[in-house]
Amino acid sequence: MSGTAVAVLAGGRGSNFEALVRGDTGDGRVTLLLSDNPEAPVLARAREIGVEGRYIDPGPYRTRFGLREEGDWAGFLMDRGIGLVCLAGLMRIIKGPLLDAFEGRIMNIHPSLLPAFPGLEPQRKALEHGVKVSGCTVHYVDRGTDTGPIILQAPVPVLPGDTPETLSERILAEEHRIYPEAVKLHCAGRLSRRGRRVTALEDSAHLRDI
Ligand code: GRF
Repeated sequence: MSGTAVAVLAGGRGSNFEALVRGDTGDGRVTLLLSDNPEAPVLARAREIGVEGRYIDPGPYRTRFGLREEGDWAGFLMDRGIGLVCLAGLMRIIKGPLLDAFEGRIMNIHPSLLPAFPGLEPQRKALEHGVKVSGCTVHYVDRGTDTGPIILQAPVPVLPGDTPETLSERILAEEHRIYPEAVKLHCAGRLSRRGRRVTALEDSAHLRDI
């Protein structure tokens, strides 16, 4: 296969997984879905769409991988020739072998404008804080919780009467737009990174056209 084989790691319903499969990811192609939850709806979604989906044991902890198990996940992804890993609703911190094997090649999507509201329930926290604009962030993954270098962000206005559910729904629509775009930029080699700062380079094909 030409291009970059992309794996999505997800533990929930899988709408971002589907957006990555169906969206324009350029030279990136989703070839694998791994889940840490054997009951996750995302596994059924993968079956329906025709992408290989697998449950792999994450180990005994709830919010991180067991060391040995994280090594198993990393080994599996490497054996499959995966070039980019996209987290999409995987509620676990990655700190060990997976990060070592794919450093700079793991992305996550988070439903707030980071660095505001990292961690759990960011939409509820944004509403309770009274912000007027929230949104979503695609970032590279580092050893912290939602702290890695930011690739793309999209703002979403908070409306009077918003609940966590209504705000989440509008943010989700933007997630589905910017996650494929970030994958496309990464797989085209158009993301340049200096320290924390990630810049999307001009599309040289586009420059040639003018
Ligand atoms: C999304 O809101 C994503 O930003 C967060 O978890 C949720 C996953 O939703 N990390 P889905 O499973 O992709 O529908």
